[in-house]
Amino acid sequence: MQMSRSSAIHVVSPESSRTLSRPLRQPAHGSASVLAEISAGLLAKAAHSSPKFLYDSLGSKLFEAICELPEYYPTRTEAAIFARHGADMAAAIGTGSAMIDLGAGNCAKAASLFPLLQPAQYVPVDISRDFLTEAVGRLQQRFPHIEMTALGLDFSNGFDLPASVRAARRLFFYPGSSIGNFSPEQATAFLRGLRANAGVDGGLLIGVDLIKDSTTLDAAYDDALGVTGAFNLNLLRHLNHLIGADFDVSQWQHRAFFNEQASRIEMYLEARSGLTVRWDGGERYFARGERIHTEDSYKYTQASFTGLLEQAGFATTRVWTDDAGWFAVIHAKAIRD
Ligand code: AVJ
Repeated sequence: MQMSRSSAIHVVSPESSRTLSRPLRQPAHGSASVLAEISAGLLAKAAHSSPKFLYDSLGSKLFEAICELPEYYPTRTEAAIFARHGADMAAAIGTGSAMIDLGAGNCAKAASLFPLLQPAQYVPVDISRDFLTEAVGRLQQRFPHIEMTALGLDFSNGFDLPASVRAARRLFFYPGSSIGNFSPEQATAFLRGLRANAGVDGGLLIGVDLIKDSTTLDAAYDDALGVTGAFNLNLLRHLNHLIGADFDVSQWQHRAFFNEQASRIEMYLEARSGLTVRWDGGERYFARGERIHTEDSYKYTQASFTGLLEQAGFATTRVWTDDAGWFAVIHAKAIRD
């Protein structure tokens, strides 16, 4: 029992295959490519950091806390759509698919659909590998009949699925409007990549946050308790760990607001005073008020998003929304090539 359970969980990490050819100059905690990526962002004229670095183990937990906030409507709105229309979704999608959960986190959203969708295989993918491994271990116990293959990797720049992922009836599951972290151009390219991996009988079930009044949007990303602020600031602790930086969290401030022209939430960390940050092989002076751009969260209309899907080779079959029209869950099928 114990053995079969643990052997059913394969955690595949790109790091493990690289350990033998480790380059000489490597930072203590992250890889050389992570150091290069973060350095380049911090040294850019308008400093920036990829939102994927928000998710170390504490960051993932803080994001879970965000999802409980009264101001953060996307998670509960999407959950209500799944609860109300789950059976309808299962009817449109069918059972027995290979469900590939992109940015699975605690795997709770997918798990809530298992009784209806009954996937043959569940493939959670997340950059926060330890967090994922823990979650999948618990899930496998609850659903012993679903084959589970956890992938601890960064899929933001595209990825190839290992042979252990079933080729037939792949269903990419991308809830939570995480697609909003990409610009529309990047999102189209990313979705094209999914289309290429999906096969002719593949599909996509995706959650998309919709444009609404900016008061609601602003509050969702700048909550009264300051949890989103803690989530954003935690990035600095993670960067300290990844690149040996000396960010002093108390010297930075959370900023987030809806940019209506660009149709996106912009999130920044802003220096409270003039200060210098040093890290492995680099340093930068930040003037008081200077910002590091840490995240974009694009908002769409139903029409703008289904248009984007079509450009990427997917045909929308169904759209489910809440009564207020705040959030959409879309099922799309691969367009035959
Ligand atoms: C995980 C990207 C969907 O953009 O709403 C929440 C991340 N950032 N609060 C979002 C986030 C600040 C979230 N996504």
